[in-house]
Amino acid sequence: MRVAVLTTGGDAPGINAAIRAAVRTGIDKGWEMFGVRHGYSGLLRAELIPLGLRDVSGIVGLGGTVLGSIRFPEFKREEVQLSAIRILCDNQIDAAIVIGGDGSQAGALALAQKNFPIVGIASTIDNDLFGSEITIGVDTALNVALEAIDRIKVTASSHERAFLVEVMGRNCGYLALMAGIAGGAEAVALPEVETDPEALARSLRSSYERGKHHAIVVVAEGARFNAEALTQYFREHRERLGFELRDVKLGHVQRGGTPGAFDRLLGTRFAAAATEHVARKQFGVLIGLLHGEVASTPLSQVVGKRKLLDPCLLKLAGVLAQ
Ligand code: ADP
Ligand code: F6P
Repeated sequence: MRVAVLTTGGDAPGINAAIRAAVRTGIDKGWEMFGVRHGYSGLLRAELIPLGLRDVSGIVGLGGTVLGSIRFPEFKREEVQLSAIRILCDNQIDAAIVIGGDGSQAGALALAQKNFPIVGIASTIDNDLFGSEITIGVDTALNVALEAIDRIKVTASSHERAFLVEVMGRNCGYLALMAGIAGGAEAVALPEVETDPEALARSLRSSYERGKHHAIVVVAEGARFNAEALTQYFREHRERLGFELRDVKLGHVQRGGTPGAFDRLLGTRFAAAATEHVARKQFGVLIGLLHGEVASTPLSQVVGKRKLLDPCLLKLAGVLAQ
């Protein structure tokens, strides 16, 4: 067997642990393992490199992806997908393992539907991928956000200031909600819930009146009122609202973290399960975590589905902010 591994979406801490485990468990099964550089875009250029045991030495603790990833919207086109399959077949690749989020798995599904043997691995810091309770990179990204929030709270308390901390999350408020709960934020602003800036101002004022010396609002980048929009609103209405909001955008700082134990182990376990699926010829599936166990779900049941936030956690965030 000749098996290729590729990373196609946003990088996430723990991906390298998955690449290493896929290569080593694959070689242990007697296969030849390959990496595809630069995701689907590199695949179209046949950027295949053989990966031996020593080629993946020393990467388990590195953030990012050693294979590289380039966003490549052209892969949505059927003729491009057919070219990719032709290139895989020309290079005698028997199966591929695609590590990434919802977009990456949409690409994987397209190849699987054209009968190319594919297994997906759930990876994105956004945690918006159906078929996995938690994906590679989420835990590390959350810890990076928490460290920042803890530090901001110290200076906010010293000066009795209000801060907005914007975390990543294109369409999904998971990171913002969890960072808000674990970081002790006074409020969260999420894509899934409409934020009224006036109500937000009232709740921040009330927390000041209840004796708090700081106010932290954790905002998801995908919220309609994200950091930019809220900062502008509060600046325009500063006199009437009586205070200003300073903003800090964490952006890619969250994605580039050193993977913690959880993400290294998650990446390793997912990849070991992926090569097991390849060995058993169980293709067209996503490897993720379901009910705390590594499990597989058909890609057709995963792609394009919306993962909902837990309403109990949303409610809890409000209660805890009192
Ligand atoms: P993620 O995998 O983290 O969600 P993207 O949404 O950027 O990240 O998707 C990664 C890559 O997957 C894209 O750059 C593109 O090449 C491919 N892709 C995204 N959506 C689709 C789709 N609907 N069909 C086929 N390929 C897709
Ligand atoms: O990987 C997911 C994500 O980090 C989103 O939270 C964010 O919107 C997006 O990727 C940013 O992508 P890029 O680094 O390509 O700008």
